[in-house]
Amino acid sequence: MNKVVPLCVPEIKGNEIEYVRECIESGWVSSTGGEYLNKFEEEFSRVTGIKYSNAVINGTAALHLALAALNIGKGDEVIVPSLTFISTVNVVKYVGAKVVFVDVDSRNYTIDPKEIEKVVNDKTKAIIPVHLYGIIANMDKIMEIAHKFNLYVIEDATEALGSTKRGKMAGSFGHIGCYSFNGNKLMTTGAGGMICTDDEDLNKRIDHLKNQTKTVLENGSIIHNEIGFNYRMPNILAAFGLAQLEQLEKFIIRKKEITTLYKNELNGLMGIKFPESNEDDDICQWLNCVEVFEEYGIARDELIKVMNDEGVICRPFFYPIHKMEAYSSEKVIGDKLINTELCSKRGLNLPSSVGITNNEILRICSILKKNVKNS
Ligand SMILES: Cc1ncc(COP(=O)(O)O)c(C=O)c1O
Repeated sequence: MNKVVPLCVPEIKGNEIEYVRECIESGWVSSTGGEYLNKFEEEFSRVTGIKYSNAVINGTAALHLALAALNIGKGDEVIVPSLTFISTVNVVKYVGAKVVFVDVDSRNYTIDPKEIEKVVNDKTKAIIPVHLYGIIANMDKIMEIAHKFNLYVIEDATEALGSTKRGKMAGSFGHIGCYSFNGNKLMTTGAGGMICTDDEDLNKRIDHLKNQTKTVLENGSIIHNEIGFNYRMPNILAAFGLAQLEQLEKFIIRKKEITTLYKNELNGLMGIKFPESNEDDDICQWLNCVEVFEEYGIARDELIKVMNDEGVICRPFFYPIHKMEAYSSEKVIGDKLINTELCSKRGLNLPSSVGITNNEILRICSILKKNVKNS
């Protein structure tokens, strides 16, 4: 029996234990002190090229803080894709704003700028493009629209650390970029996130809000001038994160090798289609993905079962959020998001851990080749 190949598991082989041990031995485990938080934030800024980085407790908190810091709330509209993880959309509800779903580009599953223009109105305040599975959304066009209509852009780059456009990191194009360090992401802190911006004032506001708007008076009293959040990352997780960051370059190189190997093996296979990234993009695919078309011969869900039976863990694409009960009453232009629904139905995520071996990838590809019915 072959070893099970997981979908995406972390690679924890650097200084993680040493740095975490230092935190435990020094007693600086929480977010009120210790040197790892600053180091992690500074190093993250160096890697992304974004001036200010604020470490938080997860990617969802980063997205929530972004909207809160930009004072987006009741009466405002925020444009989002429906083909994403639920957090991108839930955070709009957390601040009391209205969710406006827009379809994706069928070539790469990211929000379609042409569709954005159709829904902008006086109430629109922000766009949250998601760089799905690591593929960068069409940021040139999105920023053009944002400038034209004076909108904020919050990039959900939770899945796209390592992907660049003309050498610039995903998450560095809009007003705010948000990242996740959940266990399945390119790098992890167990749970964690980062919220980044080039705007000093905005960063100060983010920092204030994430820290319960805490101000210490001269006599030591603590006051809170607004309703804030406890979204700070503890020092012990930052220590973990710093050790992961030291290995990031290696992780990115391996992720790119994995994608190249999948493409070399599967390109041209009947009914299997890879996404097309935009020109000038150098993608670090967090999860490798293909669409399974009718010509393949067996449906996507059946293929997932076949793969799972062979010990290869694959996953369907995100389920369209506008079809979920909590969001089914949200208005969708034309009642349908055709590309979102088709991509979601056909999309398949393939095992993509940094630690996957070439032999495992070859085995996965041979199962995919063996099962094509119309060869
Ligand atoms: C697209 C997207 N947005 C937001 C999040 C939320 O990040 P977290 O799980 O760290 O809260 C995730 C992932 O987990 C994600 O994939």
